[in-house]
Amino acid sequence: METFIQALPKIELHLHIEGSLEPELMFELARRNGVSIPFDSAAAVRAAYEFSDLQSFLDIYYQGANVLIEEQDFFDLCWAYLLRCRQDNVLHTEIFFDPQTHTERGIEFDTVVNGLLRALERGRTELGISSHLIMCFLRHLDEDSAVATLRRALPHRDKIIAVGLDSAEAGNPPQKFQRVFEEALDAGFLSVAHAGEEGPASYISDAIALLKVARIDHGVRCVEDPELVQQLIAARLPLTVCPLSNVKLRVFDNMQQHNIVDLLRRGLCVTVNSDDPAYFGGYMTDNFVALAAAHPMSEDEIARFSFNAIEASFASAERKCQLEASLRDFLARA
Ligand code: ADE
Ligand code: ZN
Repeated sequence: METFIQALPKIELHLHIEGSLEPELMFELARRNGVSIPFDSAAAVRAAYEFSDLQSFLDIYYQGANVLIEEQDFFDLCWAYLLRCRQDNVLHTEIFFDPQTHTERGIEFDTVVNGLLRALERGRTELGISSHLIMCFLRHLDEDSAVATLRRALPHRDKIIAVGLDSAEAGNPPQKFQRVFEEALDAGFLSVAHAGEEGPASYISDAIALLKVARIDHGVRCVEDPELVQQLIAARLPLTVCPLSNVKLRVFDNMQQHNIVDLLRRGLCVTVNSDDPAYFGGYMTDNFVALAAAHPMSEDEIARFSFNAIEASFASAERKCQLEASLRDFLARA
């Protein structure tokens, strides 16, 4: 099964690029930029990655991002992720970035975007990996800050496909960002939002109704509202689920308790993703392997996650056809 999973063509739709910062690169960038970090080795950094909930992770994650200063740093970060994509046979990826994490430290919006885009372009030409950028607003900050961020992004409108919403969920409901999402949709961005990770099922319903999202990131708490589950099934509204993340952040006690396979079998458009792989112990293949170890599945069921991800992606119709062809070709040979 591991061989099948490794070779399976994959599509990633929920990946925070800042969450792919491996401790080794963190150290290199800290040295290069003269930034001090409170660890004396990459192993010590890894040992500190024990989280009790989302906030305990976010505190460490925002601290890690402080080493990212120059455009080249953002390029190096994104290029390292794309090389991991190639290793895991990820053919298409839609990458979140958090502009406010950087602009709040005095880093220019353009520095971040230009570094990421240069890596994505090289990924397209050298690795054949297609991609999109999604700009997330930090929900622990106020809506005015999100509006200012959106306006800074307008000159890059053609290079950023969607806006998203991440960071501390509980107490920061979708309502808080209704105005900025309306402005983003008017400007032509698509929208997604984290909801139902630590927040209640009502945040999922509200993200759909108020923020007009095309996908929900996480969404695993939808099961607390049976009517919502029926709505998600009927509309094929996708959930980008992150199994290892959910266990690391104690959304579920262990992988056996995770509900994604049940949701798949009930007909939801669920997908497997890595979220913040450098912090949660694994990239795409690792997530699939951990899931399959805890929940025996047929090859068809495992492949259905990839079919769902193609359907849920923002790739062009032409690219979706190519991705489906790769997947069917793989299954015919498997
Ligand atoms: N930012 C990075 N990872 C996140 C997650 N799992 N939930 C909310 N915000 C995040
Ligand atoms: Zn996330």
